[in-house]
Amino acid sequence: MKKRILVTGGMGFIGSHYIRTLLAEEPEVEVVNADALKYASNPLNVRDVEDHPRYHFRQVDLSRGDDVAELFAEERIDEIVHFAAESHVDRSIQSSLPFLKSNITGTYHLLEEVQKAGSTIRMVQVSTDEVYGSVDEGHTSEDTVLAPGNPYSASKAGADLFCLAYYKTHGVPVVITRCTNNYGPNQHPEKLIPRLILRALKGRTLPLYGDGRQERDWIHVRDHCRGVELVRKKGELGEIYHIGAEKPVANLEIAKRIAAALQQPLFHIQHVRDRPGHDRRYSLDTSKIRRELGWEPVIPLDEGLTDTIRWYQQQTDWYDGFMTDELKERTET
Ligand SMILES: NC(=O)c1ccc[n+]([C@@H]2O[C@H](COP(=O)([O-])OP(=O)(O)OC[C@H]3O[C@@H](n4cnc5c(N)ncnc54)[C@H](O)[C@@H]3O)[C@@H](O)[C@H]2O)c1
Repeated sequence: MKKRILVTGGMGFIGSHYIRTLLAEEPEVEVVNADALKYASNPLNVRDVEDHPRYHFRQVDLSRGDDVAELFAEERIDEIVHFAAESHVDRSIQSSLPFLKSNITGTYHLLEEVQKAGSTIRMVQVSTDEVYGSVDEGHTSEDTVLAPGNPYSASKAGADLFCLAYYKTHGVPVVITRCTNNYGPNQHPEKLIPRLILRALKGRTLPLYGDGRQERDWIHVRDHCRGVELVRKKGELGEIYHIGAEKPVANLEIAKRIAAALQQPLFHIQHVRDRPGHDRRYSLDTSKIRRELGWEPVIPLDEGLTDTIRWYQQQTDWYDGFMTDELKERTET
């Protein structure tokens, strides 16, 4: 019998890449993609696998306990890789409740179902470097104290702690990954890199928060997915694994590279009022996953960024498909 993996949030950016990798590389695996189809989802992200015989979609809102219970009652599930989340920091500052509901309550409902099923379903909780808050210097290790600086990262930290608590008290077999900022095809147009690319393609200004010197350790989504897959297969239960390139770059530098790639003048880069509580720098020590599981990133930023820009240039229906009026306004004006 084939192993059935529940991938949550598979209509979003990273989850859809992960599903594609899984179906391509694991012939003995079936995928159940459970996603609430919220604003950041795009069914076109999985267009190439939607008719795959080992793929199956269910619309489920994880924040609703009854819906999650129904999912587990109706589907045989052997493992879970949990991507589903509200993921945009700016939105969490405007309104935190959806983050609490999806990210904490949603994770809680999954943990409950795993416990009810006898704690035999292995689960990977996909988390973020943002749970440590801003790191002025040096690197954070997997046991650094959590100090989230915005409601998004607080909700991810809360979910991670629920996972660890369920592991300790109920033996729920869970392992956590924490990754740095992802980029690549299929990322929602409200996120920094797609937003800058789409605006540059239209000859618009490239807005950056504050002085633009905030540093992020950008990693290509496919490198992240390879890390998650290794952790799914070989990660030790109850453990946390960092995933990152360990090559932090300032947002200003990213904007300059995009402007140069699309022949836009540097004066198009405009500094706008900073986001409240904006973390200056994240920096993960990723030696554990490299040493213990043999993972390392293989896509250099220059190469990945060039491919990503080309991908957005080639899209016609993809981003128009889910862009709301609000998003259109933000990318076009
Ligand atoms: N994007 C990054 O740079 C990054 C970095 C590290 C970790 N992560 C984590 O990776 C995961 C995926 O991030 P992403 O960038 O692909 O996000 P995304 O916003 O592109 O996709 C999230 C998906 O989750 C779904 N979803 C949201 N709430 C749900 C709910 N209550 N029930 C079911 N589905 C729900 C959405 O519909 C969407 O399809 C998140 O958990 C995020 O915290 C992201």
